Amino acid sequence: MRIGVPKETTAGERRVALVPESGKKLIQAGYQILVEAGAGAPAGFPDASYSEAGITLDTDAAAVLGSDLVLKVNPPESSEIAAMAAGSIYLGSLMPLRNLAAVRALAARRVTAFSTDAIPRTTRAQAMDTLSSMANIAGYKGALLAAAELGKYFPMLMTAAGMVPPARVFVIGAAVAGLQAIATARRLGANVFATDVRPEVKEQIESVGAKYVGIELKEAASAGGGYAKELTEEDRARQLELLAAQCAQSDVVITTALIGGVFAPRLVSADMVRSMRPGAVIVDLAADGGGNCELSRLGDTVTVHGVTILAPLNLPSTMPLHASVLFSRNLTAFVQAFTKDKAFQLDFTDDIQQGAAITHDGEVKHVRTRDALQKDET
Ligand code: NAI
Repeated sequence: MRIGVPKETTAGERRVALVPESGKKLIQAGYQILVEAGAGAPAGFPDASYSEAGITLDTDAAAVLGSDLVLKVNPPESSEIAAMAAGSIYLGSLMPLRNLAAVRALAARRVTAFSTDAIPRTTRAQAMDTLSSMANIAGYKGALLAAAELGKYFPMLMTAAGMVPPARVFVIGAAVAGLQAIATARRLGANVFATDVRPEVKEQIESVGAKYVGIELKEAASAGGGYAKELTEEDRARQLELLAAQCAQSDVVITTALIGGVFAPRLVSADMVRSMRPGAVIVDLAADGGGNCELSRLGDTVTVHGVTILAPLNLPSTMPLHASVLFSRNLTAFVQAFTKDKAFQLDFTDDIQQGAAITHDGEVKHVRTRDALQKDET
C-alpha cells in the first residue's frame, strides 16, 4: 500500500505531514512511501534526509496525490482532490466545520477522509491528537509573542537601578493552548491569572502556576468531551463583567476560547480594550476560529487606544520543525493503530475511526458536519 505526502500548498504553510523519522516507521510497517520533492524543506527536512531514510521522492504532485493513503497537514484544495483516486484515503487536519467545500468535494470524489481534529479525546487516541500538539505550540508561541511585544519585563527583577514588578498576564480559556500559555508565561516569571467556563479546569490552572478567576455559572457550560458550549445570556453578561475587570488590570491578555473546539466566542469588546493600560498587549490565539477580541484583525497586528492586538493565524507553522515532528508522529500513530497485513484497514466500528471519519463512499459520515452542510444549503 502506498502512502503519498504532497508539498503543502496553503499560503504561508511551512509544515510537512511526514518527517523522515516517522517515514522509517511506516516503511517498517510495510508501506511504500512517496514524498513530493521539496515538501519537507521549509520545515528543515531536506530531500536528502528522506532519501537517507529510504523514502522515495517524486517531483510530480499528481503522482504523490494518486497514492492509496494521502497524508496532509491542511485540507486538500480542489485541484488536489481531483488528483486523488476514488476509494483512496485522506488523513490530516481537515477541520471539516470550517472547510465545508473541501468536505463536499472529498465526498463527491469518493475519498475516505479522516480528520485528526475529530478524533475522540480519549487516552487511547492521545498519541494521534494533532489538535493538542498544535495547540501546545500555539500557547507557547503566543506567550513568547506577548513577551516580545510588551514594553515591560515579564519577571520581577531586582536591579541596581531598583526593583521592577512582574507583568500581569490574563489567560482566557484554559484547555491545551491556554494551559501552555500559562506555563510559558510563568516560566518567564509573569504573574498569571486565568479563567475558563468549565469549572473542572480550576485545578489544572492552579497546577501550572496561575491564579484562577471565574464566575459561578447558573447553567453548566460543558458540552461533553471536554468542550464548552455557549453561555446563557445571563451567565454571559456576568462573565463579561469579570473579563472587563481583569483586562483593565492586565499588561497582557492571551485569549484561547473556542466553542465546541471550532468557533471563537467574542469575549473582549472594544470597550474592554479601551479600558486597558496604554502599552498593554492582547494576543488573540483564537484568530483561526474567528477571534475572541472584537478589534482583532485576523492575521494582522493593530494598535488601538495604545493597546497592541496580535491575531496571528496558523501559529504552529511558525515553529515548523517541531510542529512537523509532532504532527507526523500523530498521523503515524493513527496509521500504525489500524495497520494489518501491511495495509491500512478501515474499521468504522472502532471509536477512533468512527469519530475521525468525515467522508466515506460518497457520504458524509460525520454528524456535525452533515448538519452544517444541510444548514449551509438552506
Ligand atoms: P478548545 O480549543 O476547544 O477550547 C479552549 C477552551 O476555551 C476550553 O477550555 C473552553 O472551555 C474554553 N472556553 C470556551 N468558551 C469560553 C468562555 N466564554 N470563557 C472562557 N473560556 C471559554 O480546547 P482543546 O484544547 O481542544 O481541549 C478540549 C478538551 O479536550 C479539554 O477538556 C481538554 O482537557 C481535553 N483534552 C483531552 C485529551 C485526551 O484526553 N486525550 C487531549 C487533549 C485535550
